[in-house]
Amino acid sequence: MTQNNPVYPVIWHNDSVSLIDQTRLPGEYSFVEISRSADMAQAIKTMIVRGAPAIGVAAAYGMYLGAREIATENRDEFLRCLEQVAEMLRATRPTAVNLFWAISRMMKVAYETIGTVEDIQKVMLQTAQAINSEDIQTCLAIGDHGLKALPQTPEKLTILTHCNAGALATAGYGTALGVVRSAWSEGRLTRVFADETRPRLQGAKLTAWECVQEGIPVTVITDSMAAHCMKQGLIHAVVVGADRIAANGDSANKIGTYHLAIAAQYHNIPFFVAAPLSTVDFNISDGSQIPIEERNPEEIYHVGEATLTPLGAEFYNPAFDVTPAELITAIITEHGAFAPGELKDFQEKQVN
Ligand code: MRU
Repeated sequence: MTQNNPVYPVIWHNDSVSLIDQTRLPGEYSFVEISRSADMAQAIKTMIVRGAPAIGVAAAYGMYLGAREIATENRDEFLRCLEQVAEMLRATRPTAVNLFWAISRMMKVAYETIGTVEDIQKVMLQTAQAINSEDIQTCLAIGDHGLKALPQTPEKLTILTHCNAGALATAGYGTALGVVRSAWSEGRLTRVFADETRPRLQGAKLTAWECVQEGIPVTVITDSMAAHCMKQGLIHAVVVGADRIAANGDSANKIGTYHLAIAAQYHNIPFFVAAPLSTVDFNISDGSQIPIEERNPEEIYHVGEATLTPLGAEFYNPAFDVTPAELITAIITEHGAFAPGELKDFQEKQVN
C-alpha cells in the first residue's frame, strides 16, 4: 500500500476532486474522482469522506461542482439553481455543523460576488480552495494550542482518542489527532490508545492507520475497555474531536464519546475536545438542540459479510452523542484552549 505523506483526504486537481476512499482503508489506499455535485453528496452520505471538517471541505467543492453544472447566464436563475445544490448537499448528514457552515459560506460569496455567472463560479472555486487550505492551518494551530493545554506531568503522556479526528477527518493534520501529532513531534507522547469505535470502526481502521503510517505507537482497544484502562493508570488525557459544539460548550461527537467523558471525570483524567471554531454552532444554546444522525441498523448487525444477531432483534443506531460541557476540561481551538463556558464570550469579543 502506498500513500501520500502527509495525508490529504480532499484534493482539487484536474478540474475535479479526488477523495481518499475512507471506506476502503486500511486494506486499500485509493481515490475516488468526483466531478459532479450529486456524486459529492453521495460520497458524503456513504462516508467515502467523513469527519466534520473534511465534510465541510468536500461540501464546499460540491457547491462549486454544482455551480459549474448550472447552464444559464442569468444571475437570478443561477442563484435559484445554486440554492437547490445547497439543499441537496445539506441533506447528506445532519450532525456535523461544518457541512452547513461551508455551504453557507459558499452561498454568501455567490450572492456577494458582483459580475457574471462565470465570475461567481470562479470566486466559488477560490473560496472552496481557501476553505481547504485554511483548515490545514487551523489544525496546525489546534495542535500547538493542544500541546500547551495537555497536562505538564508526567513528561511523557499516553492519550486516549475516540473515532478518527485525524488528517482523514479534516483537510489534513487533524484536530484531536493533530494534538497527538504535535505531542509526538515534541517528544511528549509515548502512545495513543485508540478506541475501535463501533459500529463503523473509525478508530480501529482510520486512527490506527494514520498512527502506523507515521510511526506513532498505537494500541487499539474495544470501546468497552476504556474505563478499565483508565483505572489501571494507562491514560493521562483523553482528546477527541467534535461534530458540533453548542454555545454553552456541550459537544457532539461520535457515539461513545459521552461515556468516555464520564469515565475520565471519575478517574480524574482531563478530557479535551479539539475542534475548529467553525464547529461551534453559536445559534444553539445547548446540546439538546444538536440533531443526532441515526444510521442504518445494518452497521450494527453486519460485520463484513457476517450477520451477528438473531432474526427478530431490533436495533438503535445513533451515530453521535452529546458530552455535557461540565465534563469537558477545555475546548482546544485554533485561537487557544477555552473552558467551555468561555466560548461565547470569545465569540462576542470577536464580533464586536
Ligand atoms: O461519522 P463520522 O466518521 O463522520 O464521525 C466523525 C467524528 O465523530 C469525528 O470525531 C468528528 O467529526 C471530528 S473530526 C475532526
